[in-house]
Amino acid sequence: MNEQQRKQANQIKQVDPSDIKSDQDSNLERIKQIDSDEMISKYFQATYQPPNLKKAKKRLKKDVDIHYDFAISQEMKQIGQGKKFLIRTYGCQMNEHDTEVMAGILTDMGYQSTDDTNEADIILLNTCAIRENAENKVFGEIGHLKPLKLEKPDLILGVCGCMSQEESVVNRILKKHPFIDMIFGTHNIHRLPSLIQEAMFGKEMVVEVWSKEGDIIENLPKVRKGKIKGWVNIMYGCDKFCTYCIVPYTRGKERSRLPEDIIQEVRQLAAQGYKEVTLLGQNVNAYGKDLEFEYGLGQLMEEINKIDIPRVRFTTSHPRDFDDHLIEVLAKGGNLLDHIHLPVQSGSSEVLRVMARRYTREEYLNLVAKIRKAMPNATLTTDIIVGFPNETDEQFEETMTLMEEVGFESAYTYIYSPREGTPSARWEDNVPMEVKKERLQRLNALVNKQSKEAMKKYEGQIVKVLVEGESKKNPDVLSGYTERNKLVNFRAPKSVIGKIVEVKVTEAKTWSLDGELVEEAVEVK
Ligand code: 5AD
Ligand code: SF4
Repeated sequence: MNEQQRKQANQIKQVDPSDIKSDQDSNLERIKQIDSDEMISKYFQATYQPPNLKKAKKRLKKDVDIHYDFAISQEMKQIGQGKKFLIRTYGCQMNEHDTEVMAGILTDMGYQSTDDTNEADIILLNTCAIRENAENKVFGEIGHLKPLKLEKPDLILGVCGCMSQEESVVNRILKKHPFIDMIFGTHNIHRLPSLIQEAMFGKEMVVEVWSKEGDIIENLPKVRKGKIKGWVNIMYGCDKFCTYCIVPYTRGKERSRLPEDIIQEVRQLAAQGYKEVTLLGQNVNAYGKDLEFEYGLGQLMEEINKIDIPRVRFTTSHPRDFDDHLIEVLAKGGNLLDHIHLPVQSGSSEVLRVMARRYTREEYLNLVAKIRKAMPNATLTTDIIVGFPNETDEQFEETMTLMEEVGFESAYTYIYSPREGTPSARWEDNVPMEVKKERLQRLNALVNKQSKEAMKKYEGQIVKVLVEGESKKNPDVLSGYTERNKLVNFRAPKSVIGKIVEVKVTEAKTWSLDGELVEEAVEVK
């Protein structure tokens, strides 16, 4: 979309409700028509300006503008009256939180939420692009939704999130799934009301994906998923450009929110009774680097430490930017929990070099030693990729030994997945898939062993659990997490949900702990 088109799209169109019916009819007409290839190519020419990964890589030095004036026009506030929305979320916490924002916008437009696809008037797929299987799931879901759309032509189907930022994905949807009504990118979420308006009243698929990162939009409404734990964005984007990773292209350059805006949001959550916040960013340790004044994650955490909220977590860290000041602040404890998720990706310095991680095995181990010295009880968890292009057996063994040497208590492990547009996707790869799978199995066996051992140490101990609700498997059992992020299942009255209680661990499993309530509803901080 060029500047001119964007300006036009920005102008709020007046909506005459009597137009709605005829637009629904034309919608059905459109679906029928677009089964022909000729029509599809017409759609391309008419509407389509693809997102561009090369452009996304060009980082501008210009300052990011922060906007505090988001508003939904009066007529768009009525448009969802009596209608329902459903958002399906794939991927990371950042996406989960974006879903909360989109739910906030849709609620302000009068829509109500539903879990039933048959009831929904608008369905959004908030997608993840990090690995190929994440994308396959979304295309599977798009296929499942086609009959519903044919049955209910006025249903609005939208694809958003990271996949929409990829040129190849947008092309594929335009060619193979033309019944989708709108595609919008991660920088376009605040434009949702106008996009819905265009999708409702226009005849063409609405595609709005800005290749370059947007500004920061501060006052977006949110409908949070729960009332106990909340997510707070501290920054957006990533400038690291690890050679395998699509995120810097799909999420744009690093942009930090102002400390006062973050602090205010955390204070509000505390005032509303939330017990835990997780500060979110793709690379939270780079927080503040783009601000005009000297400020970093350590300083932000120092401020947040003073807020009366029992638990503060943060994710995800990059080892490269994890500085001494942050370690010093975290070591003071208080509401800053001593669980650190510190993705290492590989135990081999050579693989780390080609991944462009900008640290060696030794540097990572030094960082771990510093953290352990300052926070002897800290739990460390990580992310690991196996089968990176041309990873040798020896290099993989180095990942295995690093896993043991650090004593990670848990790890998310992945087989390398080539992402179009990233440097590593263009490289030759001499590691057969069978070998990659074997490596993953061996690594997972080690991760399970270490997790089990870590859990075993808790047997007989009393832990503080933030009770989240009924366990997924058994409604008679409650569950919650300890400060170090261990899942605990125990029997207790439902009145303790939302509170921090002491639980004695009776049995350790591989991924969770069973326990019994020590004192009923005694809140501890
Ligand atoms: N293939 C496999 N795993 C990946 N990750 C990121 N990109 C890829 C990829 N192309 C993993 C990394 C990251 C986590 C969120 O996903 O381990 O830390
Ligand atoms: Fe991707 Fe994380 Fe590397 Fe950024 S730091 S490029 S999000 S793996």
